[in-house]
Amino acid sequence: MLKIKDLYAGLGGKDILQGINLEVKAGEIHAIMGPNGSGKSTLASVVAGKEEYEVTRGYITFENEDISELDPEERAHKGIFLSFQYPVEIPGVSVTNFIKTAINETHKSKKMDDMPASEMLKMIKEKADMLEIDRKFLSRSLNEGFSGGEKKRNEIFQMAMLEPKLAILDETDSGLDIDALKVVANGVNKLKSKDNAVIVITHYQRLLDYIIPDFVHVIMNGRIVKSGTKELAYELEEKGYDWIKEELV
Ligand SMILES: Nc1ncnc2c1ncn2[C@@H]1O[C@H](COP(=O)(O)OP(=O)(O)OP(=O)(O)O)[C@@H](O)[C@H]1O
Ligand SMILES: [Mg+2]
Repeated sequence: MLKIKDLYAGLGGKDILQGINLEVKAGEIHAIMGPNGSGKSTLASVVAGKEEYEVTRGYITFENEDISELDPEERAHKGIFLSFQYPVEIPGVSVTNFIKTAINETHKSKKMDDMPASEMLKMIKEKADMLEIDRKFLSRSLNEGFSGGEKKRNEIFQMAMLEPKLAILDETDSGLDIDALKVVANGVNKLKSKDNAVIVITHYQRLLDYIIPDFVHVIMNGRIVKSGTKELAYELEEKGYDWIKEELV
């Protein structure tokens, strides 16, 4: 589904990502861990096509198509979803209206008609119930005054509505209380299928008790320096990152 080959990317003439290789197949969950500033969010942004970053070497394909030249909207329409570590506020646009617009934009890009209002409402109700989201929440302005947990829940709601092929969740666990963490993880697990894939970026092994990854990768200095199974996450929780550094020298 997603293939990243020898990817160098950064900004201002400096590469933050320095030779990333990663393949994510349909049906898989990959976790990405690594110290602060190692390039995790940058990798997510580059895959999603954020324009401030420049790819200087290597390539990214999604479903066997080179997506390097596509803008973020086009990538989203192809089924790539990125949740932000720091989501933006959009005053005056409700959670519901934002998602309606996003869905119909996707329909438009596929030359499909708008989703009928009744169908949209039904879907909103279903997904909100699944994620235990209060109806009142849906009419609030997007991210305005949202608590950390509400922002994260809203992201998962967007993801549930958009049904992406590849979801990249950047620190979805930060700021969630234990109950919210379970709801969010549960949502991700329910949305999981053999046809889609998830990349979770996290600092803590805790999330991976609920969203069980097939692979865990460690990024340091813009490179994947170690990959393993979920056992690797336990090892990191226990030992930190220094032992990997030592292994590398
Ligand atoms: N837009 C930007 N402008 C300047 N520097 C940037 C920008 N984006 C990333 N960087 C730098 O690139 C490096 C990697 O940042 P990135 O956000 O990818 O780290 P991260 O692994 O997600 O860290 P964290 O765990 O703290 O979220 C950092 O040194 C950061 O300051
Ligand atoms: Mg980050």
